[in-house]
Amino acid sequence: MRTSFPALRKRPKELTFTRARISTGILGLDDILKGGVLPLRSYLIRGKPGTGKTLFGFHFLVKGAADGEPVLFVSLAEPDAQLRFEASTLGLTLDRVSILDLTPAPKTFKQLPPYDIFSPSEVEREPLLQQIARSIEIIKPRRIFFDSMLHFRYAASDTFQFRRIVQSFIRFAEQHGATALLSSEESALFPDDDLQFICDGVIHLELHDDERILTVLKFRGSDFRPGRNIVRVTSNGMEVRAG
Ligand SMILES: Nc1ncnc2c1ncn2[C@@H]1O[C@H](COP(=O)(O)OP(=O)(O)OP(=O)(O)O)[C@@H](O)[C@H]1O
Ligand SMILES: [Mg+2]
Repeated sequence: MRTSFPALRKRPKELTFTRARISTGILGLDDILKGGVLPLRSYLIRGKPGTGKTLFGFHFLVKGAADGEPVLFVSLAEPDAQLRFEASTLGLTLDRVSILDLTPAPKTFKQLPPYDIFSPSEVEREPLLQQIARSIEIIKPRRIFFDSMLHFRYAASDTFQFRRIVQSFIRFAEQHGATALLSSEESALFPDDDLQFICDGVIHLELHDDERILTVLKFRGSDFRPGRNIVRVTSNGMEVRAG
C-alpha cells in the first residue's frame, strides 16, 4: 500500500543485511568483535585527546586499502601531511588512502570571513557538507574514517541540526556502500551521548598513566567480548589484548 508519508516504507529496498564482517585491521580487536565490524554500519570511536582515535582510523583504512578497496579519510582535525607522517611512525602508509583535508588553510588566517554578518557555522557548513558528499560520490569508498565529529559539531548551529547532519551523513555513506567510523572526543562541554545513540557501535578508548584501555560499549546486531582490553601502541601500530 502506498503511503503519503515518504519516510514510511514497508521494506528497505537498497540494503542487503549480511552476516559478513569487516576486519578493523587492528591486531586482536576482530576477535573481541567476534570477527570484525558489520558492513554498511557506523561506529563511534570515542575517547579523550591522545587516546588513539586517529591511530584506530589509520588501521581501519589501511586494512581496506590493502584489500584493494577505495577508502576515504575525512579530516577536520589534522592536515594531510601530518596524518601521513604520523601513520609512517606506526609502520603504516597512507599512500592508497584518499584524504579529504578540511582543516583551514594558512591563508584563512588573513582572509577574514564575514563572521560579523553570518555566524561561522552558517558560512562554513554548506561547503563542508558539499565537499564530503562530492568526495564520497567520486571515490566511492568502502571505508570512511571521519576525524572528528567534535569539529563537525562546531559547524552546526544547534544540536538538532547536528544530529540531522550526522544521521544523513551516515545514511549517505551507507547508500554509497561505505562502512563509517566516526571519531569523537569525550568532553564535558560537548557530551557525545547523541552520537552514541545514533551509531551502531561504540568503542571507547582510555589512557590511564601508562595503561591504554579499549572497551566495546555497544555493538548492534552482534555479540562481543565485554569488558576492558589492553591496548599497546608501538612503532608496529596499535594492538589489543583481552584484559
Ligand atoms: N609511533 C608511535 N609509537 C608509540 N606511540 C605512539 C606512536 N604514535 C603515536 N603514539 C601514541 O598515540 C597517541 C596519539 O594517538 P592519536 O593521535 O590517535 O590520539 P587521538 O585520540 O586521535 O588524539 P586527539 O584527540 O588529540 O586527536 C600519542 O599520544 C602517542 O602516545
Ligand atoms: Mg586524533
